[in-house]
Amino acid sequence: MRIDAQIAEKLKGLGVELRAGVALADLTSLGIGGATDELLLRRYESIPEVMRLLKSEGIPHRFLGGGTNLLVMDGDLPFVVLHLPSSQPGMRVEGGAAYVDAAADLGGTVTFCAKRDLGGMEGLIGVPGSVGGALRMNAGAYGTQIGPHVREVELYRDATGEIETLKGDDIRFDYRHTSFAPGDIMLRVKLELPPKPFKEILAGIRVCNEKRRSSQPLNQKSAGCIFKNPPGGSAGRMIDELGLKGHRVGDAMVSDRHANFFVNTGNATSADMMKLIGEVRERVRVAFGVDLENEVIFWQN
Ligand code: EPU
Repeated sequence: MRIDAQIAEKLKGLGVELRAGVALADLTSLGIGGATDELLLRRYESIPEVMRLLKSEGIPHRFLGGGTNLLVMDGDLPFVVLHLPSSQPGMRVEGGAAYVDAAADLGGTVTFCAKRDLGGMEGLIGVPGSVGGALRMNAGAYGTQIGPHVREVELYRDATGEIETLKGDDIRFDYRHTSFAPGDIMLRVKLELPPKPFKEILAGIRVCNEKRRSSQPLNQKSAGCIFKNPPGGSAGRMIDELGLKGHRVGDAMVSDRHANFFVNTGNATSADMMKLIGEVRERVRVAFGVDLENEVIFWQN
């Protein structure tokens, strides 16, 4: 989708940098997705006005975080993509709290806090993506979730069309799910973290990194786990037990390292990946009577 020149001019006046015709394949960890215009929101305070403009002009839009948990359709996308600039995200520590821009890299944030003797997030070290994406999904690994550390979130709220600050207690953080609305845009977060000597945090980080390296396909294009784990079960183990590691549709393949990771081995299309996901879900349903729920977010038609 292309923004016309007149609207582009108005957006520029609101501090938006327009990047025409970017390929989502280049902005997502799966390396899949068609092209559209990307709007970089450089001025947070004008976001409500940008959103009003897009709505009044009837321009469909979606917000892109780190792009690490996303399967985007191919072709000319019927929506523009909004993005926060991530080059120099704000991060500071004051007392036992860290104040971080949502565009910051999650792993970078864990390290930044560790160096200032604030721990508690060791398990999140290898989770790819932005802090905003981690908040929205309540990212977790190795017994740690981000939700319990959240004290405040500054966000653009779709329901009111304004920038607001929510208290941590007013947000529901469940397993890979939160009470944020799809149209909300995370801007900044205050995290409260337990004090811990850097050396101790580093030891924890090393253990998690090692576990991850030994069980996940880190050097291949993926979106992490495709399915949520069903209550009390493991999607990866079930898919593995069905002998589906290495099963492929075109260049989309069930990882031979971790069966809940589906990798793009070359030029997988969105349709290949969707077909593979559908096939595996059906095989699990027939064999185990379990309807797996997607963990990955789909931007399809
Ligand atoms: N297993 C297999 N075969 C496989 C994969 C796993 O038998 O191919 C078995 C393992 O041996 C283990 C069990 O299944 O006994 C669980 O596996 P693992 O420890 O790898 O954890 P997981 O439940 O598959 C979850 C998260 C991951 C997170 C890890 C580590 C979900 C859907 N996945 O995976 O998160 O990194 O725990 O804490 O909750 C993600 O969210 O994208 C993600 C990758």
